[in-house]
Amino acid sequence: MLQALITGISGEVGHGLIKKLHAQKYKIVAADIKDPEKEISGFLDKFYKCDISNKNGVEKIFEDQKFDVIFHLASILSTGGEKNPELAAKVNIEGTLNLLEAATNQALKDKKIIKFIFPSSIAAYGLPDLKEKSKIKKVKEDQFLSPITIYGISKLACENLGNYFSKNYKLLGDINRNNLIDFRCVRFPGLLSPDTIPSGGTSDYGPEMLHAGAQGKDYECFVRAKSKIPFMAMADAADVLIDLSEAPKNKLTRFVYNVHGFSVTAEEIYRMTKKFFPKFKMIYKINPERQRIVDTWPEDVDDSAAQKDWDWKPQYDFGKTFSEYLIPKIKERYHTR
Ligand code: SER
Repeated sequence: MLQALITGISGEVGHGLIKKLHAQKYKIVAADIKDPEKEISGFLDKFYKCDISNKNGVEKIFEDQKFDVIFHLASILSTGGEKNPELAAKVNIEGTLNLLEAATNQALKDKKIIKFIFPSSIAAYGLPDLKEKSKIKKVKEDQFLSPITIYGISKLACENLGNYFSKNYKLLGDINRNNLIDFRCVRFPGLLSPDTIPSGGTSDYGPEMLHAGAQGKDYECFVRAKSKIPFMAMADAADVLIDLSEAPKNKLTRFVYNVHGFSVTAEEIYRMTKKFFPKFKMIYKINPERQRIVDTWPEDVDDSAAQKDWDWKPQYDFGKTFSEYLIPKIKERYHTR
C-alpha cells in the first residue's frame, strides 16, 4: 500500500484528491494549519496540525512517517498573497523548501525515490498587456514567465526548486543527492468545485458566481465581462495530480506541464450559471487590482505536452462541467431544487 503525504488538505484541491486517493487504497497522512473538516477526516490515517513554513514541524512528520509520494498543495493564493507578500513568500517558498529538504533526507536514508507532485498555476505567467494576451492565446510552458504577483513568483520559484532538488541539489557535495526526488509539476488554470469555495484567489469570481447562484444570492463580479482565462472542473484537477504521479518516468519530457479544461469569459460563466439558476442576478463592480492580475494571465494554455507524454485529457468540457458535475452536486450541497 502506498503512503501519501498531502499538505493543505482544507484547500480547494485537497478534498477531491483525498477522496480519490482513498478510493485507490492509498494510506493518507495530511498536514494543515486547520483541523480537517468532518467530510474528509475519516479518510485520513494520520493528521498533523502543522505550518509547513516551520521547519521543525515538517521534520517531525518525516521522523514519524515514510512516504512514497507527496502532494504539496498548501499555498497562499494570488489575492491573499498581495495582502501580505512576506507571509506568502514564507509559506509558499520556505514551506516547499522544508518539504523538499525533508523528503530528500528521507529518500537518501531509505535509499528510495520519493515522488513530489506540485500544483503550480497559470499565475506563473505574466503577459505584458491585453493586446499580447489576445494575440498569443495559447501560451506554452516556457513563454511569458514574468508573473506580477508574489503567488505567481513563488510558484515559479518552487517549480525551479523542485527541479533543482531532483537534479542538482548540493551538486558540489560529497554525497550524490540527485534523483532522490522525482519532482513533477502542473500549472493549473482556475478551478471550479461544488464542494469548496476558494479563499484569496483571483480566479475566484468563477466559483463565487456558481455558489452565489446556487444559494439564491446576488453577486458582484470583480472583473470585466470579457475577462478570459482557462478553468477546469475540480474532478479533473484531482485526476491530473494522480495521473501525473502514476505516469511512467521515461515518458516525461518536462518537469512542468500545462493542463487545460476550457477557456471562458466571466460573462460566459455568468450565463451558464443563470441557465441553471434563472433568478441569479449579477452586476460587474471591477476591482482594478484584481483585474490587473487576471489581465496578465493567459486566455488559454497549450497542454499538448501533457496530452502527448501522459495522455492527459479532461473529462469535462464547459457544458458538461456544469450539467453533469457542478450543478447536481451543488444542488445537493445547498438543498436547492
Ligand atoms: N486559483 C489561483 C488564484 O486565483 C490561480 O491558480 O490565485
